[in-house]
Amino acid sequence: MAQEKLYLKGDKLLDISNYEFKSIKNALRIGREKTIKKVKDSGLKGRGGAGFPTGIKWEMAAEVEGKEKYVVCNADEGEPGTFKDRYLLEERPLKVLEGIMLAAYAVGADKAYIYIRGEYSKSIEIFSEIIETAREKKILDANLFDSDFKLELKLIRGAGAYVCGDETSLINSIEGKRGRSRIKPPYPIEKGLFKQPTVVNNVESLCCAAEVLNPDSEEFSELGIKGSKGTKLLCLSGDLNKPGLYEVEFAQITLAEIIYDLGGGIKGNEDLRFVIPGGISTAVIKAEDLDFPYSYQAFEKRGSSLGSGAVIAVSKKHDLIDLMLNVSRFYMDETCGTCFPCREGNRQINKILNAFKEEDRKIETELISDIGNTIRLAARCGLGQSSLNFITSVIENYGKELKFGGKIYA
Ligand SMILES: Cc1cc2nc3c(=O)[nH]c(=O)nc-3n(C[C@H](O)[C@H](O)[C@H](O)COP(=O)(O)O)c2cc1C
Ligand code: SF4
Repeated sequence: MAQEKLYLKGDKLLDISNYEFKSIKNALRIGREKTIKKVKDSGLKGRGGAGFPTGIKWEMAAEVEGKEKYVVCNADEGEPGTFKDRYLLEERPLKVLEGIMLAAYAVGADKAYIYIRGEYSKSIEIFSEIIETAREKKILDANLFDSDFKLELKLIRGAGAYVCGDETSLINSIEGKRGRSRIKPPYPIEKGLFKQPTVVNNVESLCCAAEVLNPDSEEFSELGIKGSKGTKLLCLSGDLNKPGLYEVEFAQITLAEIIYDLGGGIKGNEDLRFVIPGGISTAVIKAEDLDFPYSYQAFEKRGSSLGSGAVIAVSKKHDLIDLMLNVSRFYMDETCGTCFPCREGNRQINKILNAFKEEDRKIETELISDIGNTIRLAARCGLGQSSLNFITSVIENYGKELKFGGKIYA
């Protein structure tokens, strides 16, 4: 059932002497325009959460004028339940490096950064060594394979804030500023790092791009369906018998099969209550509604999203209020505080949920929904905009149960 097509098959890619850099060589051979066209035609969508088409992002960045251009690889991986980028950084770092080189070549950047989550010490160590060896071997900072393309790549260790995964906060953090989101527009592709055009891409997106440009493998675009191309790395966790990292081809497996076959079903013979399909910034899918093929559009149709690929199974043994409080505390702690509705709204939600738990009062669902809408409309960045997705979806689906009893244990 596991569909290990691109990333989970084969040996680790750590030895630079034996790595052929076929994708970047191919790109240098066909030129910038055709490289971008190939990525566009492949239908690759960003794997960092927002699902923006990578080829279009590269094309826009290539067309913008700038004194300098930058590429930033987003390896902050702060979404709870997500650990796929760590795998790529530690076991396929050469593929990540090649993806960064490809993006830089395509958009005309000669400087790049990789921003790695501070807690990922091993990833940082491995990737630092890769950068050093690449310099020694004249793969970085040199006219690569006798072309006019050269790239300076720096590694930045993240400082431990969820908001720094947001592309504009991450840019601020690289510049040495406080990690808080910038107002958009201007978007990073127009005015990003050091006010210059900047492409920010997720680790997995860049690995996918390397796959698309690999002349030996035409597989990427043949995998999946229109609107959801290629494969997706899934981080299965929660109450599953077989949690872990899996790779699936889009639309060839249902969410039910992901939970019951790949994930081995629910631990301790408990009943599943719902699935959080893409990290805690996504709306839950009820246990009885899992029978649909895994794709971007299928989640969109259901008012949710595949997010970062963190699939969390939640059984009926958990107290719903405790779960909501847990998520609410996370957002209360992680808001950067710039926008009043996000800073104060998340604190108020936590207060309402606590009152419900401690005083067993009727839950103020309308007030939660009002606050949620205000945050969604007024928040500057995705942290605020999605902070209520989990909580409001639990209330929408299980609100009646909450009203009648405070704690519920099915
Ligand atoms: C609060 C917040 C945290 C985010 N964390 C990450 C992250 O850890 N990694 C990531 O690639 N994208 C993250 N994103 C999305 C980025 O802003 C951006 O969309 C992404 O890096 C673009 O890459 P892609 O187009 O390749 O997906 C986050 C967004 C928000 C709002
Ligand atoms: S929405 Fe929240 S996290 Fe984002 S900028 Fe505003 S206060 Fe900061």
